[in-house]
Amino acid sequence: MNNEKIVDEKKQGQALHSVPSPLNSKKVFIESYGCQMNLNDSEIVASILLENGFNTTMNLEDADLVLVNTCSIREKAEQTVRKRLEKYNSVKKTNPSMKIGVLGCMAERLKEKFLEEEKMVDLVVGPDAYRDLPNLIEEIEEGREAINVLLSQEETYADISPVRLNSNGVSAFVSITRGCDNMCTFCVVPFTRGRERSRDPNSILQEIKDLQNKNYKEVTLLGQNVDSYLWYGGGLKKDLKKASTAAQENAVHFADLLNMCALEFPNMRIRFSTSNPQDMNLDVIHTMAKHQNICKYIHLPVQSGSTRVLKRMNRQHTREEYMELIQNIRTIIPDCGISHDMMTGFCGETEEEHMETLSLMDYVKYNFGFMFAYSDRPGTPAHKNMIDDIPLATKKRRLNEIIQLQQKHGLFRMKNSIGKKVVVLIEGNSKKSDTYWKGRNSQNAMVVFPKTDKETVGDFVNILVTECTSATLIGEITA
Ligand code: SAH
Ligand code: F3S
Repeated sequence: MNNEKIVDEKKQGQALHSVPSPLNSKKVFIESYGCQMNLNDSEIVASILLENGFNTTMNLEDADLVLVNTCSIREKAEQTVRKRLEKYNSVKKTNPSMKIGVLGCMAERLKEKFLEEEKMVDLVVGPDAYRDLPNLIEEIEEGREAINVLLSQEETYADISPVRLNSNGVSAFVSITRGCDNMCTFCVVPFTRGRERSRDPNSILQEIKDLQNKNYKEVTLLGQNVDSYLWYGGGLKKDLKKASTAAQENAVHFADLLNMCALEFPNMRIRFSTSNPQDMNLDVIHTMAKHQNICKYIHLPVQSGSTRVLKRMNRQHTREEYMELIQNIRTIIPDCGISHDMMTGFCGETEEEHMETLSLMDYVKYNFGFMFAYSDRPGTPAHKNMIDDIPLATKKRRLNEIIQLQQKHGLFRMKNSIGKKVVVLIEGNSKKSDTYWKGRNSQNAMVVFPKTDKETVGDFVNILVTECTSATLIGEITA
């Protein structure tokens, strides 16, 4: 995996498409940036619009409405979106009736500034206001600007069945929580996505059942912090103590939800993302170990290997506690794949603290990693109370060092699979050749292998791994 690939994976824009309805005449071009949650939100938006006269189009020039679902996590992500807005506006010159809307985290962060200063958009909609889209679109069709950036303490879009966009027909995202209450000092998410709330488990099971009926074979349960999932009849997590004793006793925690999903859908793979070390507990790890259909893979962002930096970041654990968690995972699930998010150059990060990050990576030897240079975000506690004092060149040099190290560890983990048999769910043709399939193993490693005439997309196959690169396992079908 080269640097660009590691960093690009999360910031790439995607034009999205779904099956059209013959009843609809208007066309919407939807493009999604940022995390998987945003992609899943775009699917919710497409579902709402499909009910309201819009089919998706992949052709920007054709669109009556252009929507960009945006990311605010780093400054670069916002710059990318601004460039896209310029592009949409240049297309609008040849199609003046076209309307442009901004959705998601940037809409929430910049609110009416988009309408006042930028003059580049007609519509601004925050992540909790998508149900209001039909009304807002009516407003803009009548020539008025429209905005709804209200954050909610209840909205989970539980009853909306997302239209699967750009789907491989095999693997789908299912949101289980929204928002985040953690307040890591560097992070804009609690401000753009609001308070943490969990979705009714019955609606989650129903959505997975629908996917199963449509022949999907894998779901990824999504949230900023899935391990903190808690359902006791609705409401904010922090309000559990106010609920009745019966509600408290019957509360569904993340391990319970995983257990329910695994039992109800024995032929589907269950994945989840993201786990926060402070909320991941032994129950979750034991539940993963108990069920063959829960994938043995944990994305466990740590951000830094230094307890002092973790404290400045307001992450609620130390380096040692994180190492203990890793040890527990390795003991209970010996073959578990583990990945990380890591940041370099956070406020005041010394060379010694950076070395602690490198040594933590050496200790864990992660399978994969997503690595970033710290980007100061207006409005966050770090922006208000700390100084972004590490020169960009230093942030980048440290970033390069952790990327190099991750490549080494990634290759080490991949090589460990050579000679072993892995189960792969076929997702489609490999990028490089139509005569090869691609799919992932339980640990989330990409596996490619030559096709035979017996298997097809959506099948589980046994693969004997014969070689690898740092990003891909290569093998052949075996019994
Ligand atoms: N909920 C996840 C993180 C969501 S944001 C968690 O538990 O950690 C995804 C990743 O973006 C983070 O893990 C972090 O590594 C990175 N990130 C967040 N804010 C950032 C910032 N201000 N600058 C650089 N990277 C950032
Ligand atoms: Fe952000 Fe920390 Fe939540 S990284 S999404 S505030 S867990």
